Amino acid sequence: MSNQLCLAHRGWSGKAPENTLSAINLALNHPEVDGVEFDVQLTKDHIPVVIHDYTLERTTNGRGLVRDHTFAELRALDAGSWYHDSFLGEKIPSLEEVLIANQNHKQLNIELKQMNSSPDRVLEEKVLRLVEQYDMEEHVVVTSFQHQMIYHVKRMAPQIKAGPLIYGMPMMLKEQAEHLGADLLSLCYPYLTPELVKHIGEWGYSIIAWTVDEPDHMRMLAHLGPSVQICTNHPDRWLEVKGSTI
Ligand code: G3P
Ligand code: CA
Repeated sequence: MSNQLCLAHRGWSGKAPENTLSAINLALNHPEVDGVEFDVQLTKDHIPVVIHDYTLERTTNGRGLVRDHTFAELRALDAGSWYHDSFLGEKIPSLEEVLIANQNHKQLNIELKQMNSSPDRVLEEKVLRLVEQYDMEEHVVVTSFQHQMIYHVKRMAPQIKAGPLIYGMPMMLKEQAEHLGADLLSLCYPYLTPELVKHIGEWGYSIIAWTVDEPDHMRMLAHLGPSVQICTNHPDRWLEVKGSTI
């Protein structure tokens, strides 16, 4: 039986609208789900909120860019009914609400999303301050496709675990990770081979593999060993693959 950690991608987004408290709480309250991944952006008035797209149209009834709206404006939107009528009225959560919801101290994988890397580091600062305020330093990992943000997070808060999101197979992966001061590598799973997993383990980094939704692919990743965490929209499929009875 596999002892790999299971992270619910955008919350348990196979069962509830992505990046909402419904989806996040489903994962946080399940005894065999180890944590959640979710996406964080800044509002116009600099509140970190949980939403994937830079634009509102796909997952809310709003229009335009997230960053052009205040927190109050975003909270007036419906972030649930695009998924199913039963989720009508679901709100875009704030990061603060997710931190408060994490009563069971599961792993929160906070993905920093920003269209352009901003030299003022407001998103990094706001996120780190909230994590500290809610005493969650040991229960978060910070990831981003914006590798500069990881570089700065590690310099602003070396005790926080962080690592780059990587799509594909870049050259000089070890050198990149060292330069960033990373603790982990979050990799698009089709690029993970047993040899690469072995090398990354020897370099001292853990691995998050995303986004693994097919049971056949889960079975392949289960053979890669405990250093590979499974990030999936369907934790129930993973639990079935690993033979859980819950
Ligand atoms: O954390 C990995 C994954 O979430 C990155 O892709 O587009 O789903 O945020 P995306
Ligand atoms: Ca993400």
